[in-house]
Amino acid sequence: MKELTWVEISREALIKNIRQFREIVGPDRILCPCVKANAYGHGLVGCSKTFLEAGADWLGVNALYEARVLRDSGIDAPIYILGYVPLDSLEEAVELNCRLVVYNKKIIEKLAELTEKAGKMLNVHIKVETGNNRQGVLMDDIVDFAKYIKSFEKIELEGIATHFANIEDTTDHSYAEHQLNKFMKAVSLLESAGINIPIKHCSNSAATIIFPETRFDMVRPGISCYGMWPSSETYVSYVKEVGGDFSLHPAFNWKAKIAQIKSIPSGEYIGYGCTYKTTHQTRLGIIPVGYYDGYDRGLSGRAHVLVNGKRAPLRGRVCMNIIMIDLTDIPEAEIENDVTLIGKNGDEKITVEQFAEWADTINYEIPTRVNERIPRMYL
Ligand SMILES: Cc1ncc(COP(=O)(O)O)c(C=O)c1O
Repeated sequence: MKELTWVEISREALIKNIRQFREIVGPDRILCPCVKANAYGHGLVGCSKTFLEAGADWLGVNALYEARVLRDSGIDAPIYILGYVPLDSLEEAVELNCRLVVYNKKIIEKLAELTEKAGKMLNVHIKVETGNNRQGVLMDDIVDFAKYIKSFEKIELEGIATHFANIEDTTDHSYAEHQLNKFMKAVSLLESAGINIPIKHCSNSAATIIFPETRFDMVRPGISCYGMWPSSETYVSYVKEVGGDFSLHPAFNWKAKIAQIKSIPSGEYIGYGCTYKTTHQTRLGIIPVGYYDGYDRGLSGRAHVLVNGKRAPLRGRVCMNIIMIDLTDIPEAEIENDVTLIGKNGDEKITVEQFAEWADTINYEIPTRVNERIPRMYL
């Protein structure tokens, strides 16, 4: 049974994207797609299974609860947790055999106690601060921190990572180069101290696609696994600096049904705040989707949806659970017809990027904010 609104995810598109990443990174590098934030809104379990089938090696989540959902769904592939795991949740992280990003001695101390008690090894990856100033160990502390980790028998220092701050928002890559140099400096400081860490990684989608030298031993692409360019700047950089046939396949198609159609005379107000007044006899469609579902209120008066391959503009404000659309020029539209909010419909399409422009934000935010409760169907 379909819901009032649902998201159709193209498995074919997801598979093509992952296979392209595999092609550019080669067979030996670890391919770790990020499936955090409900797989960028595309559905955590469905995407994770599809990515693994398509040849991904690891999965990157943000939090322990996401790792738990994956393990409960039967996934036993390596799971790398990119975000913070609090002290009182570390026991479960050991139990679920997760790989953790680390930058606090307190966490290491607790992990040492837990791994000893459980008689189990745990893999950790040091996050180095190179200029993003989020999570990470400062350069001056890196050797001391690594030695501290190495002093515990059951904690394996498997990886070292960093994350770029300014690689997708610009075609000027000097800051990314500066961060890459700092990352390599951290690696060489550790090597000089006799500490060789097997898995070095720092590449998100933009870095993986544009800068082969950032790929090291593992890559962590997110947005592009779902078929989106991180930004138009990244696309321009790719075309100008790399050139090739790397093409992305968007997987996200958000749909709803028409709940009612009625004829409204000219001169009537529509919706809260009476912000829109009809200028003609209007065939008005009522669609049961609103800002609770993730259809941003900022789209009021700016967006259109697609019905029978034609554009139908929004009228009035986006409500919590309803939007109103003008079907005057789509006389064949009927109750329960499908409406496309994002995706293709006939010869027309609404891209996530178009939607993001209407909402005055970036493409990342659009699918991740489509309510998790809305079913994701894999076609
Ligand atoms: C640490 C880390 N690695 C990788 C990614 C993936 O980035 P992108 O979606 O730009 O590929 C993210 C995303 O925010 C991240 O925080």
